[in-house]
Amino acid sequence: MAETIDLEELQSELLSEIAAAKDLGALEQVRVSALGKSGRVSAVMKRLGSLPAEERKTFGAAVNAVKTRVSEALDSHKTILESAALEARLASEQADITLPVRPGPVSEGRIHPVSHVMDELAEIFADMGFAIAEGPDIESDDYNFTKLNIPQEHPARQEHDTFYFHPDSNGERLVLRTHTSPVQIRTMLSQKPPIRIIAPGRVYRCDSDQTHTPMFHQIEALVIDESTHMGHLKWVLEEMCKAFFEVDEVKMRLRASHFPFTEPSAEIDIGAEAIGKPGQWLEIGGCGMVHPNVLVNCGLDPQRYQGFAFGMGIDRMAMLKYGIPDLRAFFSADLRWLRHYGFSMLDVPTLAGGLSS
Ligand code: PHE
Repeated sequence: MAETIDLEELQSELLSEIAAAKDLGALEQVRVSALGKSGRVSAVMKRLGSLPAEERKTFGAAVNAVKTRVSEALDSHKTILESAALEARLASEQADITLPVRPGPVSEGRIHPVSHVMDELAEIFADMGFAIAEGPDIESDDYNFTKLNIPQEHPARQEHDTFYFHPDSNGERLVLRTHTSPVQIRTMLSQKPPIRIIAPGRVYRCDSDQTHTPMFHQIEALVIDESTHMGHLKWVLEEMCKAFFEVDEVKMRLRASHFPFTEPSAEIDIGAEAIGKPGQWLEIGGCGMVHPNVLVNCGLDPQRYQGFAFGMGIDRMAMLKYGIPDLRAFFSADLRWLRHYGFSMLDVPTLAGGLSS
């Protein structure tokens, strides 16, 4: 029976199958069909048991020789296919490092001028020892008005064009904050003097035309100490303007005005020559010494403490510094506008490196 198996033919068949395998997958199939548990070589091996003892030895040795030969052929062909696969992969995954860098999110993305100006101002005030404070956009009537010395029937409430929420079951109504001044209240209620904070953020007024949008940005500043006076206020404003407009001299004036939460109060004007419009004054915000009633409302003794506050329009300052003519374009989400006026995200403003470079 054993004689009917032609080992040489089996071997030459298997070797030519191996040589014909075009890839590693095909080669593996050949291996399984030859040496696998129910492969052809294994099948021949199984017959050994049924042979007479004297034949078993020579036949066994012959089958083993076939097995070894086939294994070697499998191994060497595998090496050849593997290096061919590697060559192919190296060729297909080749990177041409001479190509110019493709623009990615870091170079394509732009920081909105408002965000950039906020960063610039944060940098300027941090340098003067101010911390950043925050408050919510949805504010209580009490913090937005009453504690700021604007009681229920005060005419200043009308001037603010407030967005009111529906009153709750206690009759209290929340508002979209009309200015960042409620952050003054929050700060004085939660911190002990000396206080030196700025609070940038969104504010809302029901107003919309070429120079007004229903949402805009302000930055508030508050300083409370035991010997603070208007001279400090004016110095801080002047230093801020010089640093912000990146000039050595800036013409600035405080024009007497009125806010319920400051006394005295003033409007801050800057000479527009700083931005190439000589002879004009531009209003950038309001300021004053914190009204004693506001201090009392926050549990501070006005005999001991006093301080100043100011609030400025960030959008207005961005327009002035970067020569942006239309306020509405700030919020129209026009990508072309953002590409033109926006800032690279790697351009983080620092006093040392230049704010707007
Ligand atoms: N909150 C005032 C406004 O929005 C600005 C201001 C802030 C004035 C702080 C004085 C002091 O018009």
